[in-house]
Amino acid sequence: MYQTLLLHAENGILTITINRPDKLNALNKTVFDELNKALDELAGNAELKSAIITGAGPKAFVAGADISEFNELSKEQSMQLAKRGQDTFFRIENSPKPIVAAVNGFALGGGCELAMACHFRIASENAKFGQPEVNLGLIPGYGGTQRLVQLVGKGKAMEMLMSAVLIDASEAKSLGLVNHVTLPEILLEHTKQILTVINTKAPLAVAGCIKAANAVFDETQNGYDAEVREFGNCFDTEDKQEGIAAFLEKRKAAFKGR
Ligand code: COA
Repeated sequence: MYQTLLLHAENGILTITINRPDKLNALNKTVFDELNKALDELAGNAELKSAIITGAGPKAFVAGADISEFNELSKEQSMQLAKRGQDTFFRIENSPKPIVAAVNGFALGGGCELAMACHFRIASENAKFGQPEVNLGLIPGYGGTQRLVQLVGKGKAMEMLMSAVLIDASEAKSLGLVNHVTLPEILLEHTKQILTVINTKAPLAVAGCIKAANAVFDETQNGYDAEVREFGNCFDTEDKQEGIAAFLEKRKAAFKGR
């Protein structure tokens, strides 16, 4: 069913593995088409509460957009390609179900952009991050100039964008680009542990957190207004009744996502 992705669902977590290890999991057209299909699956399956995106093999998360597809592109086609990438990554960023990047090696160019579109990132010790597009006479096209500034601040982002310098996992953690650094062998387990905790929370409240936090970077809306709206929406849910009743009755809440 999928040529370039491996999908595995367990305990409400969908693990999406980009599976082109011989090309360091570079993002070609098929990967984008299939990522969209996997996002449809995540959205449409009520059993799935969250997702992990990772790369196959020990070396790379994703080493970038597939450079071999760039050669013959006209200016118009290159803009369409950037738009397609941005649209897919907006879908990840705005997914109401949490999507976490488990970065298991090189996250370069489009790979760094994919990781940054996820809600947060866990890295293995061998992970490396960077936007090396200027080496190719290009700039990032899948949101990298925007999200890198958001995540590490303008000064560091400018340096990374202009110099193509790669940073290791511990520097990425000190910059706030990744939340945790783990041994490669336990990367997926560690990421699943975090999502297992999140999966016990009220799904609509989790979705509200995503919406309100994303509103910080959305110029079309006021983030504080978005927070008021999302706070209010929670009061219409059965899960809010359940959460408050469970607290008062000193028992564990059983959320239903309603
Ligand atoms: N697009 C297409 N193919 C890619 C790729 C990319 N972004 N990154 C790696 N590959 C391919 C290589 O061409 C090579 O294929 P081949 O065996 O058919 O020749 C294979 O993946 C392995 O890569 P290789 O370069 O041999 O591995 P390495 O360990 O020597 O170097 C990197 C690893 C990540 C430093 C190097 O592959 C690299 O610089 N990749 C491009 C990074 C980049 O510029 N990304 C931004 C793209 S916009």
